[in-house]
Amino acid sequence: PVRAVAAMADQAPDSLEALNALIRRSEPLVPGATQAVLGEGPPGAAIAFVGEQPGDQEDRQGRPFVGPAGQLLSRAMAEAGIVRADAYLTNAVKHFKFEQRGKRRLHQNPTAGEVSHYRWWLERELDLVAPRLVVALGATAVLALAGRAIPVTRARGPAEFGRGYAGFITVHPSYLLRLPEGAKEEAYAAFVADLRRVGDLAR
Ligand code: URA
Repeated sequence: PVRAVAAMADQAPDSLEALNALIRRSEPLVPGATQAVLGEGPPGAAIAFVGEQPGDQEDRQGRPFVGPAGQLLSRAMAEAGIVRADAYLTNAVKHFKFEQRGKRRLHQNPTAGEVSHYRWWLERELDLVAPRLVVALGATAVLALAGRAIPVTRARGPAEFGRGYAGFITVHPSYLLRLPEGAKEEAYAAFVADLRRVGDLAR
């Protein structure tokens, strides 16, 4: 059904509302998600952030980056002088994929096939938002934006995604959450430094 909807829409939707209406109606590629989590932020935002996929909290609340990784991202943005409400935030994959373990829903990484399935939405979404700069947060976002796997550690910094906006590659905030205590502080500072550069590049 999702593919059918996408094919129907090959005359690309000409507004974010129209695109979002399509995404909302689409079935998750992998069953289980409560709802599609759409991008959030003003069209015309100077900076768009692209994450991986909604997590447990995002799936429940229907908003991107509201769980632990999102809170860390918000804090780092504020420290770097980027106003979250002025930026556009979205994900490469629009539905939460998880493995149920008792009461817990454990996040599962999307496959390359799933990323490529959702790429159609992401490209149209970013064309409609028309930011000056698109920030890929982590490897899945890089795969979605560049169309091929590029190691984040090697490509970290300004990037070219071959569309009408400048690109930037940095780590995903959930990577910072998973680091051992002794490594967190330095990695977080490097992330904030990346976001400062992002702010400068988007001016
Ligand atoms: N991680 C993501 O990549 N996106 C979200 O929205 C939340 C967590």
